[in-house]
Amino acid sequence: MFNPFAPGPATQPPLLAGRDQLIQNMLDEFDRVERGTGARPMAFTGLRGVGKTVLLDHLVDRAIERGWAGLRLQASSHEGNDSLTQLTAVGDTLMNMLATGSATGKALRRGASAIDGISVSLAGAGASLKFGKDGTRAELGIPMEFDALLTALGETARDRGVGVFIAIDELQGCSRSELLTFGRTMQAANSRHLPILYAFAGLPSTREHMVKIDSVTFTERVEWSRLQYLTPTETATAIEEPLIGSGRRIDAGALEMLVELTHGYPFLVQAASKRTVDAAGASDLVTKKHVMAALPGLTEDLAEGVYGASWSRTAPQERRFLYAMSVATFDLKSDEVASSEVYRRLGLTGKQASMYRARLIERGLIDGSGRRLAFTLPGFGSFVLQHRAVMEPEITVGIEPPAARRASVEFSPGPATSNKSIPGLEL
Ligand SMILES: Nc1ncnc2c1ncn2[C@@H]1O[C@H](COP(=O)(O)OP(=O)(O)OP(=O)(O)O)[C@@H](O)[C@H]1O
Ligand SMILES: [Mg+2]
Repeated sequence: MFNPFAPGPATQPPLLAGRDQLIQNMLDEFDRVERGTGARPMAFTGLRGVGKTVLLDHLVDRAIERGWAGLRLQASSHEGNDSLTQLTAVGDTLMNMLATGSATGKALRRGASAIDGISVSLAGAGASLKFGKDGTRAELGIPMEFDALLTALGETARDRGVGVFIAIDELQGCSRSELLTFGRTMQAANSRHLPILYAFAGLPSTREHMVKIDSVTFTERVEWSRLQYLTPTETATAIEEPLIGSGRRIDAGALEMLVELTHGYPFLVQAASKRTVDAAGASDLVTKKHVMAALPGLTEDLAEGVYGASWSRTAPQERRFLYAMSVATFDLKSDEVASSEVYRRLGLTGKQASMYRARLIERGLIDGSGRRLAFTLPGFGSFVLQHRAVMEPEITVGIEPPAARRASVEFSPGPATSNKSIPGLEL
């Protein structure tokens, strides 16, 4: 029996749960674009592993199904490979496909995944773009101006009665020039009735970042939605339906346990379900015993997956901050802790430490609305205490360890910081 679950960044889940309304809203925008009425770009924000990328990918697929040109790009990354460069690099492919009507999903995906290769080979080569229904050749230079490319794309699409859907991921890393260009081209496309529609995704701090790097126009034009964890019902559906589809059943107790354990955090839903099904082996009934057997391996999944990815982007002083915060929440047996308490444990003044606090909020690792701090990812505090503090003892230097420290503790993903639920760490 095959295992339907799919933990991993940008990996489509067997069932995309809890996003129906957002998808429907976007489909309504597709309709509006086709009717020639101005459409509103959307931006999805949310924590790491909450499902931004898979939602964007799904929407790109829906666009392509309608005969649109659909493309997903990544903002940010490094100099010379920003999203504008990426898009202009695949412009040729896109234009040809639109012009000849061969805009199949697979082909466009190939175009998108070959972005690096294409942009490299184009750079030195001197290239041209084909566009127009008759495939007229136009020398437009390299890289073709983003605005010009979009206009050409938009006009070609309009002639064919379709649209162009551009999904831009990791928006929080987008540069000021990218942002200004998006804002400008969105406005231009609207005023010239070009059928171009954008969707964006980024970490929760994205919106503030956008305002900071100065694009009120951009921020206001976009419809923002925050992707949440799945509700218990949505989580149960996300687990049970694919299981049944793969020829298994799950008993009520086991399902309840999985729902509780994962907190509806999409990455964890996939990781825990996958491990559980692996533990069930050839048995077609999944039970609590299988869920229990899945637990130890989840540490690894989380450490290597979202936790590890988030951690690797933090600086040494930020790691100390996270460690002090983990100890504090553990000692206080609370999900939240006052900023001042963390500063005290770090031995820093508010002035010194608030910079780290701000950066960690920006990275989406902690939530600091109000004066109290909380981790945003379930189990992150335990991960820091039991995994990172062991691997990187230097982050613990000068900070008093947790009151109930034990030599060896078993990890179990609990709620964000509710260390009460971590077996082996109770007093
Ligand atoms: N609606 C959903 N229902 C079930 N599983 C989901 C859902 N959304 C995402 N997942 C699963 O969660 C995991 C993370 O998804 P994804 O990579 O899209 O997250 P993300 O928000 O883009 O994370 P990051 O910020 O790290 O890029 C994947 O394994 C995916 O299959
Ligand atoms: Mg992503």
